[in-house]
Amino acid sequence: MSKTNNLCDFILFGGHGDLAFRKLMPALYHLCKDGYLAEDSRIITVSRAKFSAQKHKELVKNKLIEFLPKESYTQEDFQRFEKKLYYVQVDFLNSKGYETLEKLLNEYEKRDRINYLSTSPKFFAGICQALKEYKLITSNSRVVLEKPLGKDLSSSQEINKKVLEFFKEDQIYRIDHYLGKDTVQNIMALRFSNRLFVPLWSSNHIDHIQITVAESVGAEGRWEYYNEYGAMRDMIQNHLLQLLCLIAMEPPCSLDANDMRDEKLKVLKSLRPISRSEIASSTVRAQYTAGSSMGESVLGYLDGEIKQSNTETFAAIRVDIDNWRWNGVPFYIRSGKRMQKRNSEVVIQFKTMPHSIFAENNCCTLLDNKLVIRLQPQESIELRLMNKIPGLSETMQLQEVNLELNAPDTHKRKSDAYERLILDVIRANPTLFMRLDEVEAAWRWADPIIEAWENNLVPMKKYTAGTDGPTASIQLIAQDGRSWNDE
Ligand code: BG6
Repeated sequence: MSKTNNLCDFILFGGHGDLAFRKLMPALYHLCKDGYLAEDSRIITVSRAKFSAQKHKELVKNKLIEFLPKESYTQEDFQRFEKKLYYVQVDFLNSKGYETLEKLLNEYEKRDRINYLSTSPKFFAGICQALKEYKLITSNSRVVLEKPLGKDLSSSQEINKKVLEFFKEDQIYRIDHYLGKDTVQNIMALRFSNRLFVPLWSSNHIDHIQITVAESVGAEGRWEYYNEYGAMRDMIQNHLLQLLCLIAMEPPCSLDANDMRDEKLKVLKSLRPISRSEIASSTVRAQYTAGSSMGESVLGYLDGEIKQSNTETFAAIRVDIDNWRWNGVPFYIRSGKRMQKRNSEVVIQFKTMPHSIFAENNCCTLLDNKLVIRLQPQESIELRLMNKIPGLSETMQLQEVNLELNAPDTHKRKSDAYERLILDVIRANPTLFMRLDEVEAAWRWADPIIEAWENNLVPMKKYTAGTDGPTASIQLIAQDGRSWNDE
């Protein structure tokens, strides 16, 4: 792969926040180390705190040491990286400090400018407005918006409308970091480059699909944010729906960003709205109580800073897609904090064989084929097939075996989703970012569920921290005669 010039000024607003230190700086460091950032590119952190350039560099260094894998950090690489680091203090509330940024950026007026807004969305409009006033938006500018992009359709429309006053839609990159994960992109490769799966990928052969994103961590440390959003807004409306789109979409006519996004949009528009009469049987929400996670006792959601909350830390939903391909194939999706283990997977469950010739001879019960696409903790793709047990037994005995479809281990470091996405913004490739109409269609589907939950039409269940969620989630899928893929 050619490592193109990629010369830019990367302006990181909110650059002293948790995401910036945990994910964005490590991603930029790796891009620099691997030669994907032009030598003269600058990474300009913009934040409210008062810091000298030197103190900022020291802070970045300490955070890199904290968050990078041990083997990635070397003094020599950091020395190359720190030459790119700049710091500008700006108070987002009263737009003070932009003159310094103006001076710095205008040293290279023609350069591509990536404005990465890793701040609360309440500052988006003010930052864009200030950039406009100081004439810092050029035809080579792009803006990256971190989620949450609103709490519902109307607040999301408000945020987007504001940003669109200053940037054109094709300059806006709405990030969903799940789309930057290698295995998630591999869903496209699997579906559209392997003839084998093409005839199988529909209601003719698929019984149902499960999408699980389970985390072992709780909401501690970011309670204020989390309690406002909950599992539905934080995970389902974006990450899980994007995964669902990639599984369910029709083949796009090319890999062009808009061709891809047109097809994802069609899926989002085909999601069957969940009516009030079905909300209690099609959705589950729950909060974790005290328990033990990874061998350690942990507090319940309501045992810490808050004592009362109507925010779910777990959500499970039966989703139906009203189109020809998926008629009668439910998608069961769920996501939760403080679950038994970190495990994210998509399970494509194929239909039962029309007839088993093995049953008659008592050989075994045939297990239905499954394709398991695992995103976390390890990335892998497995096809579960039936196979003969070797040997001379009188009746043929079968067992389930795994066909692993993993790329050969190249011993190369696996890049993080943010590396891929930041590099795509630098290269001006919006394919893996969400278009406005996608975000809005996702909210259109999610809003009635959130509203029904806020009106307590679905009881808030409890689950013990460190388990697979509430029993209601098992019932959600069991009522259709199915079960989760929890071994
Ligand atoms: C973020 C959510 O978007 O994704 C977090 O805000 C969540 O609550 C995180 O923990 C999960 O990302 P990953 O890549 O660790 O699965």
